[in-house]
Amino acid sequence: MTLLDNHKVIERNVTLLLVLSLLVVCVGGIVEVVPLFFFKNTIEKVAGMRPYTPLELAGRNIYVREGCYTCHSQMIRPLRDEVQRYGHYSLAAESMYDHPFQWGSERQGPDLARVGGRYSNDWQVEHLTNPRSVVPESIMPTYGYLARTPLADDYIADDLVANARVGVPYTADMIAKAKDDVVAQASVDGDKSALLARYPKARSEDFDGNPMQVTEMDALVAYLQMLGTLVDFKNYDENGNNR
Ligand code: HEC
Repeated sequence: MTLLDNHKVIERNVTLLLVLSLLVVCVGGIVEVVPLFFFKNTIEKVAGMRPYTPLELAGRNIYVREGCYTCHSQMIRPLRDEVQRYGHYSLAAESMYDHPFQWGSERQGPDLARVGGRYSNDWQVEHLTNPRSVVPESIMPTYGYLARTPLADDYIADDLVANARVGVPYTADMIAKAKDDVVAQASVDGDKSALLARYPKARSEDFDGNPMQVTEMDALVAYLQMLGTLVDFKNYDENGNNR
């Protein structure tokens, strides 16, 4: 009997074919899955990543609430045109503290993974209030009410607790000071050293141009302005490896 004849036996016996196919799939599955149990971490650590500040986290919640992800992705693919337009492609570690992640699957508007620092706060506020005033052909909805809505900070500490439960390294100190950190980050004056010790590189400004109160606009702009700014890509080569 040749090899082909052997195979004929399998092909003509449905049960045998099924059992053997299942075995092959199992071997494939084991080869893919088992190594993951032996890695310490499936996401490579990247220098610079830190959890969101309470204000950024609140802004992120507004981003999710308003459905910005239905038009904007936050995932730059390793393709030449995307990298030229948006910057270094996204690394897994950059969304390691995202629950849920905001990679998105729609691009009615540009990718926002590295929009942080690309525009001024004033531009962001103006654009969110009336997108057509800065980009005449824009189809983006208006979000001016965010600047008139005070940020509800009652649940900000609870939000940090919830994120800590799913693995974000928020410390007891960060949770206890969450409300203070919101105010510290959204105001121009005051002592920022405690905020910066807890959250290195946090941009602390009056984001919405209204120093009288902390609004939802402050939170959303604080979030937009930090997107993609934590990892310093001067330390990585084009393959994402340490230089
Ligand atoms: C209906 C789809 C849609 C929704 C919803 C939407 N956007 Fe946009 N967005 C766009 C389009 C289209 C553009 C490009 C034109 C422009 O700049 O207005 C854009 C541009 C932007 C830009 C400028 C990006 C760049 O690199 O130039 C930012 C920032 C932005 N949107 C943030 C948001 C935020 C935050 C939300 C939610 C509060 C949101 N968008 C909701 C469609 C949308």
